Amino acid sequence: FADTKEAGSLLVSEFIVKTLQDNYQKGQSSVLGLATGSTPLIVYKNLVTAFQNGALSTQNLTTFNLDEYLGLAANHPASYAFFMYQNLFQYLDISDERIHIPSAPPKKTDESIAEYQQLLGQTQRDIQLLGLGKNGHIAFNEPGSPATSRTRLVKLDESTRIANSRYFESPEQVPEHAITMGIADILESKINIIMAWGEGKAEAVKRAITGPISSDCPASFLQQHNKTIWFIDQKAGKML
Ligand code: F6R
Repeated sequence: FADTKEAGSLLVSEFIVKTLQDNYQKGQSSVLGLATGSTPLIVYKNLVTAFQNGALSTQNLTTFNLDEYLGLAANHPASYAFFMYQNLFQYLDISDERIHIPSAPPKKTDESIAEYQQLLGQTQRDIQLLGLGKNGHIAFNEPGSPATSRTRLVKLDESTRIANSRYFESPEQVPEHAITMGIADILESKINIIMAWGEGKAEAVKRAITGPISSDCPASFLQQHNKTIWFIDQKAGKML
């Protein structure tokens, strides 16, 4: 629990910097799984500050993003590739080949999903960052997603499209489909860090942490992972 999202985000960014710097000092590479949306924004800001202050080196860093909308090019302002560039990558010392974001160019969808899955499977993530959907989703694993799910094309819930329409000019412009890592992929990260800020997430937090493990609330599968750390503010935790 943190009092505010600022305080919670600071704990998360300190944890990431420490993990990455420990690896760097040992001459090892680091692999971070990244999320988009409003939840990790302050964490990314803090990471940029740490990088600029010399407290964080990113030369040995590889990243994998959780998800991407289907049909949005990387230069579309609402694409997750664009979001990551805007909020994080443009400030870091990280080359394009070490940045992985699922994508599905027309006619090559299956191929590029298989390629992403293969790369992900070959790489042990040190930390996977996650946000929580109000309907209990993690990445774009909407309710109904099985524990065994892998990277795939999914249809977005109407509630998710409405929640995310704030990034588009109109709700109809929110793509109906996305590519997402699966639950099984998320559970393979060494550490999962899931963050939730604000009252709007309180019910989903309660279901995910105290409810039954079920695909009705995909985040509840994190109960089966032995190193999942929740960072929530007072408001998101008010139903616990
Ligand atoms: C984003 C993602 C989603 C969001 C979730 C919460 O990459 O995978 O699961 O984490 O929809 O969104 P925000 O943070 O905007 O409340």
